[in-house]
Amino acid sequence: MRHASLGILSAAILLASSAQAADNAAVKEKAEVCAGCHGDNGISQTENIPSLAGQLDQYIQWQLVFFRAGARKNEQMQPIVEQLSNEDIRNLGAYFAALTPFKGGKDDNPDLSEKGKQAAAGRRCASCHGDTFAGTKAVARIAGQREEYLVKALHDYKSGQRSGGAQAAMADVAYPLSDEEITALAHYLAHL
Ligand code: HEC
Ligand code: HEC
Repeated sequence: MRHASLGILSAAILLASSAQAADNAAVKEKAEVCAGCHGDNGISQTENIPSLAGQLDQYIQWQLVFFRAGARKNEQMQPIVEQLSNEDIRNLGAYFAALTPFKGGKDDNPDLSEKGKQAAAGRRCASCHGDTFAGTKAVARIAGQREEYLVKALHDYKSGQRSGGAQAAMADVAYPLSDEEITALAHYLAHL
């Protein structure tokens, strides 16, 4: 009796781990497609395409759902999300969140960063994005993100092109930002 149940138990464990391995292979295959634009290891080398490495699991999942529902519009992402099941979305969120986070390069304009730092303090960006701007849950990691993408994202919220989740918190935040502030904020955040 004891042996029989142990046998069943180990068979169950084997099944669980092989299913997980298959999952991993499937998610890696999907992630190869993403790498074509979002870069190897989730670090983008391409203008206006955000890095995904270390981005938050929940945030990634929500954005994929928003793209799929047409609530967030982007010509390049549209055909991609049409191919994704809910399970793919869960797996891809976990996959990219587990990669080593993107990090900013050397700061070539510390004066602009200082302005951005002041703007971030004045606008209380850290109250939602966290003291290190690493984000939490559905609030994006923004530290070290590509500078020109951050500028684009803030302009998209400001113009209403992108409304975003969490009661459209970012639309309210971005609306009063001047172009000068956006430039400085993006420079500061991109170099953290
Ligand atoms: C053909 C290029 C392309 C491919 C392939 C692609 N993406 Fe994207 N992705 C983009 C672009 C461009 C954006 C920025 C959209 C915008 O400006 O609003 C984006 C944005 C995103 C975002 C939002 C990130 C953020 O910081 O808000 C997520 C999440 C994402 N992509 C996930 C994926 C995943 C997962 C895959 C693979 C299944 C994938 N993408 C494949 C071009 C691509
Ligand atoms: C009230 C909470 C809140 C505050 C304050 C806030 N944010 Fe956000 N931010 C969010 C949420 C929630 C999201 C995700 C929105 C979405 O789904 O598009 C976000 C998304 C972003 C994004 C998009 C990231 C990406 O990868 O596309 C940027 C950039 C950003 N915030 C910058 C800022 C800056 C700069 C400030 C200060 C001027 C700020 N945020 C203040 C809640 C906040």
